[in-house]
Amino acid sequence: MRLNQQNILLGVTGGIAAYKTPDLVRKLTAEGANVRVVLTDSAKEFVSPLSLQAVSGNPVSDDLLDPAAEAAMGHIELAKWADKLLIAPATANFIAKLTHGLADDLLSTLCLATEAKIYLAPAMNQQMWKAAATQANMRILEKREISILEPASGEQACGDIGPGRMPEPLELTEALVDDNSSLELKNKHIVITAGPTRESIDPVRYITNHSSGKMGFALAKAAANMGAQVTLVSGPVNLNTPDAVKRIDVESAQQMHDAVMNAVGDCDIFIGCAAVADYRPVQMVTQKIKKNNEELTLTFTKNPDILADVARRQQAPFTVGFAAETQDVSRYAKEKLARKNLDMIAANDVSRSDIGFNSDQNALTLFWSDGEKSLDVADKGKLAVQLMHEISARFIAGKP
Ligand code: PMT
Repeated sequence: MRLNQQNILLGVTGGIAAYKTPDLVRKLTAEGANVRVVLTDSAKEFVSPLSLQAVSGNPVSDDLLDPAAEAAMGHIELAKWADKLLIAPATANFIAKLTHGLADDLLSTLCLATEAKIYLAPAMNQQMWKAAATQANMRILEKREISILEPASGEQACGDIGPGRMPEPLELTEALVDDNSSLELKNKHIVITAGPTRESIDPVRYITNHSSGKMGFALAKAAANMGAQVTLVSGPVNLNTPDAVKRIDVESAQQMHDAVMNAVGDCDIFIGCAAVADYRPVQMVTQKIKKNNEELTLTFTKNPDILADVARRQQAPFTVGFAAETQDVSRYAKEKLARKNLDMIAANDVSRSDIGFNSDQNALTLFWSDGEKSLDVADKGKLAVQLMHEISARFIAGKP
């Protein structure tokens, strides 16, 4: 199960090699991937939508303007759903469309609308593959960090001999698996906190904050997709658990502290993304407080600092904190990096309403002892993948 519940969108264009795609879908699902298939009109001449639906277990999409399909999973949702977009086989015509950013059918539109990494398995006549136009297009696509799965050489359907055969389904599957494991988070245990905490005042009231858990859950998904074993300690949120992630639900900061301390024993990386309440009421009264007085005074006491306690452990994991700040963001973040003895901190400007708490997008500035890097505004899913890449790189660099 080396594709670990990854969402793989398979785009099939109209080449003879399309007949191999039901086998490709089988191999991807055997590795644990969730596969959805998009066919171009000409692909349907070579492979039947019904057979791809049967092997993938999901409806096959082929029309940009199909109201029924849009009512189920619309093309933008499909673009967001994908962790990886594999186009196999990719014809010379489709490659030219992709190079020029055309969006005149479902698959080409998805290529523009997705933030997922795109993998291209070209398949065509050897002369078409060698043509200057095709080669120039390939160079442009490579520069855009589209991963090219080079065609194999051999006898072609038309009788020619040369390069242009789509790699076999097993090779394509291995290429996706290899890309996955190249991040070296395979078999690493990562503990992540997410969401808010709730600090009870009385049996019906509590103090909390605006954290939705989206950032922490996106990190858990990204880490799991990179092969890590992930434990997600979450405050009260309304989110589904990412596939292959172990989730522990807590309410208060003290409960989150206890759950994290139980989980970090063997962990390699700890990421504190939760918005943990710094203080809790000194006492939680057992009966509902009555409105007898004009004023109510509550006394608070400090909660344990989960992040600092993880970082000060004898066998401390690579420890990453967040700093949610409304002013002097970088200065306060650097100060927390040093004071809490962290390996890395992600500074989050939460004065903006379009990013940070409870929004779908975020932007971060990362600091570590001798470096920094800004991650521009992006969907939290995409940003989480970028952040996990940075964490993975620093974690590996720091190993003896
Ligand atoms: O959940 P979302 O809606 O997606 O929003 C994401 C987010 C804004 C909550 C997230 O990106 C973020 O910035 N999380 C950190 C929030 C926070 O509490 O920051 P802080 O600067 O107060 O805390 C600094 C660090 O110490 C954080 O890593 C925090 O998890 C940790 N901490 C704080 C207090 C405490 N008692 N224990 C802790 O571990």
